Amino acid sequence: LHTAYRRQRQMCIRDSSTPDLISLGDLGPAELRRVIDVACEIKADQLGYSDFLKGKRLAMVFEKESLRTRFTFDIGMQDLGGSAVFLDLSQAARMGARESVRDMAKNLERWTHGIVARTYRHRTIVELAQSAEVPVINGLSDLLHPCQALADTMTLVERWGTVAGRKLVFVGDGNNTCHSLVTAATKLGMNVFVCAPEGYEPDAEIERAAIAAAAETGGSYTLTSDLMEAADQADAIYTDVWASMGQEEETEERAAIFSDYSITEAVMEATSPDGVFMHCLPAHRGHEVSRGVIDGPQSIVFDIAENRLHAQKAVLAMLLGGDKTEGGNA
Ligand code: CP
Ligand code: NVA
Repeated sequence: LHTAYRRQRQMCIRDSSTPDLISLGDLGPAELRRVIDVACEIKADQLGYSDFLKGKRLAMVFEKESLRTRFTFDIGMQDLGGSAVFLDLSQAARMGARESVRDMAKNLERWTHGIVARTYRHRTIVELAQSAEVPVINGLSDLLHPCQALADTMTLVERWGTVAGRKLVFVGDGNNTCHSLVTAATKLGMNVFVCAPEGYEPDAEIERAAIAAAAETGGSYTLTSDLMEAADQADAIYTDVWASMGQEEETEERAAIFSDYSITEAVMEATSPDGVFMHCLPAHRGHEVSRGVIDGPQSIVFDIAENRLHAQKAVLAMLLGGDKTEGGNA
């Protein structure tokens, strides 16, 4: 217990910042690095943390479908000695329809020690966080996917040790996955490229923050529409679906617009000799990535999926661990 308590105190990285995980933009480079380090530590000593969140309960409220996020948060809580309760709203009206988002938060905080939410509107997660007295974790919104980017960058840190100075290219729609990846990778000093067709570039505010972060860390941010230029000597190529959840009716239109942005063997041949292929999953083989690439030797997609568990255990331990009166939860 004493060791667990000591570890718990060591993990309280946050000082004055909010005790939620809404955006990785809220973390400084050192804080982000600390979460990744804790994730690696927890992964290396899984039994050592089996009581860390004993008696703690997590609410999981999802407006959209999920495999990885749902399983890894649930299993993560169990691994840490706690439990999770899942509310599937994917077939129901969006949050705020049956009762206000605030009322939902004020209920959930009475029964649980933290909330993971997956929403359409990013505003819904922000409102949950503003209303709830317990930590709120963004399990994907239309704007951001921070837990994914934690696992993505953790996987690269594990693989390369130092990620600063490496070239990471996101190809496709400037979406939630892209936004959080760009945010995290520039904070880690990477040379980040986004290759997107006109009209599908990342959010301008995310780009501005990425440029500012890169200036601080020695990384860089480049937007291009030239795929082969972006892929040249890349250390990692990342792609995601062309139509995200909620954009299903645009699937055909997007397939035509993005058809030149598919990651094929020819694209991967332009990368550095140890270049890797990344995808958050689920993937559409034959669309944003060829079967040969995603199922080939350069693909690290399942390493990333595995690390969703460890990265989120770090987030849970850091946000839900500790006792508020000891300053452990803030
Ligand atoms: N990558 C990811 O978030 O997967 P799910 O949508 O299955 O949770
Ligand atoms: N951009 C995708 C990510 C799924 C994990 C979506 O929002 O559907």
